[in-house]
Order: sequence, then structure tokens, then C-alpha cells
Amino acid sequence: MSVDFNELLGAMNDLTGKTAIVTGAARGQGAVEAELLATAGASVLICDVLEEDGAALAERLDGEGRDVRFLKLDVTEEAEWTVALDMVRDWTGRLDVLVNNAGIINRKIIADMTIAEWRKVQDVNVTGAFIGVKLASPMMQEAGGGSIINISSNSAFSGHYDPAYTASKWALRGLTRSAAMEYAEQGVRVNAICPGLIVTDLNRESPHLGPMIGMTPMNRPGEAHEVAQLVLYLASDASSFVTGEDFVIDGGFTAGAAYRRVARETGII
Ligand SMILES: NC(=O)c1ccc[n+]([C@@H]2O[C@H](COP(=O)([O-])OP(=O)(O)OC[C@H]3O[C@@H](n4cnc5c(N)ncnc54)[C@H](O)[C@@H]3O)[C@@H](O)[C@H]2O)c1
Repeated sequence: MSVDFNELLGAMNDLTGKTAIVTGAARGQGAVEAELLATAGASVLICDVLEEDGAALAERLDGEGRDVRFLKLDVTEEAEWTVALDMVRDWTGRLDVLVNNAGIINRKIIADMTIAEWRKVQDVNVTGAFIGVKLASPMMQEAGGGSIINISSNSAFSGHYDPAYTASKWALRGLTRSAAMEYAEQGVRVNAICPGLIVTDLNRESPHLGPMIGMTPMNRPGEAHEVAQLVLYLASDASSFVTGEDFVIDGGFTAGAAYRRVARETGII
């Protein structure tokens, strides 16, 4: 098979003609992901419950020449997803990429957490993504295929002190693999990204920030644009044979932060 390497390079950064929905994109990582996808040429629908921030971001990006709109979408509301998909259908007629990025955290331990608080986290982080996968994938199939990217966390590889959040992020990995199996033959790829510490409004005030950075082998938090670059790779045709996978992006934390600490404390490294 002859390969056009210039075409391969182009495919890595080019989303021209594609349409993407990014949830939870009014701020934080979602906002940077939406901006990068739009800069790569995609029409991007920014969705969030934060109407003022989302509308302002869409207005700025659109004013700078990118094709971006905002819609208020609570990911737990099926009816609002339907409105979003109808809007995309009227706008570009196709959906190629969905980034299930919206997420919340509750830092209570099990002993202190109410069942309602537990359910709230699962509802936004897991059920919200499930509704997105369920409703968006048929529209992607109409476009000949697509890419769904679920933003999980590196806390989905161990036990963690945020049990409701941790359980929800493990569940997202399970949803990702199950959906990847269900939709593989229809051309819809489904992958998960599992970031480590990225400083955003989700954790800016957390007392865990300092110790987490200290434990991270690369000795720093990640940047939202570093996660966005992975989102772009998975959204683009450069990842055409990639589905059902977790991508950890955490400066080496999951790879062995605990053993690194032991090695440091015993003077091995
Ligand atoms: N910051 C980190 O260290 C980190 C690490 C791993 C994973 N993550 C995940 O990355 C994603 C983005 O988080 P972030 O760090 O940018 O935090 P963030 O709080 O800045 O962004 C989350 C966004 O989701 C939106 N949102 C919350 N509930 C929603 C709902 N019901 N419907 C629609 N939107 C809703 C919020 O309004 C907000 O804009 C989340 O899924 C989070 O769990 C974050």
C-alpha cells in the first residue's frame, strides 16, 4: 500500500469539514479543547450549564474567525441533548466528534457522603456521558463514523480519597470499552483520556494540590493544552485504528509514583 506522508501529517491537525460537540466547555480543560478543535477547522458547539462563560467564549472564538456556537446543555437532561443534536443538524448537517468532558467532584469520604450526593456525581459524570454516547452515535453513523472521547481521570486506576468521583471515572472507562465494542463496525470510535493533575476551578482550592505535584514524577501539574492535544489526536483521522483505549496523561504518576517515592526516600534515585 502506498502511503502519502504529507497527507498523514495533515490528518493529524486538520478537522476541516468536521463538527464537534464539547460538553463542560465554558471553562477549564473543555474550553481549551473546544478552542483547539475549532482552530483545527472544526465547527464546534460549546455546551455547558455556565451560560455566561460559555456564550462569552463562543463569541470570542467566533469573532476571531472560528466557527463556534454555544448552547446551554445540562448533560443529565436527555431533552437538552436532543436540542443540541437538532441544532448541529440544522447548522452543519453532521456530527463527527463528541467530547464528554463535563464533570463534577465531591471530595467527601464515604462515611460523610449522603446517597443523594453520591448519585449526583454519578449522574453528571457517568449518566451524562452515557446519554451523549447513546444519542450522538446514530448521528455520527449517518456521517460515516466519528470519534467519542470520554474524559475520565488517572484516579480511575487506583483507589482514591474522592470515592464518588473515583467510582464515576472507573465507570467511564467501562462505558468507553463497552461502547467501543458496540459501535466499532459502524465506524464510531470511543476512547477515554485519563488526565492527572491539571490546575482548574475543579481543584484550585484543594489542599491536595501541593502533595500531588510533589508525587508527580515530572514534578509539575499538566496544562489544559496538553490534554487538548490528545483530544485533537483522538478526534482526527490520525487515530483511525484506535478504539476502546484509555490514554493516561499524568506526568508519570500512574506509571509508578509510589515506587518512585520509595526509591527517593531510600536514596536509590
Ligand atoms: N482538573 C483535573 O485535575 C482533572 C483531572 C482528571 C480529570 N479531570 C476531568 O476533566 C474534566 C474537565 O474538568 P476541569 O478540570 O476543566 O474542571 P472545570 O470545573 O473547570 O470544568 C468542568 C465543566 O463542566 C461543567 N459542568 C458541570 N456539570 C455540568 C452539567 N451537568 N452539564 C454540563 N456541564 C457541566 C462545569 O460548569 C465546568 O464548566 C472533568 O470531567 C474532570 O473530572 C480533571
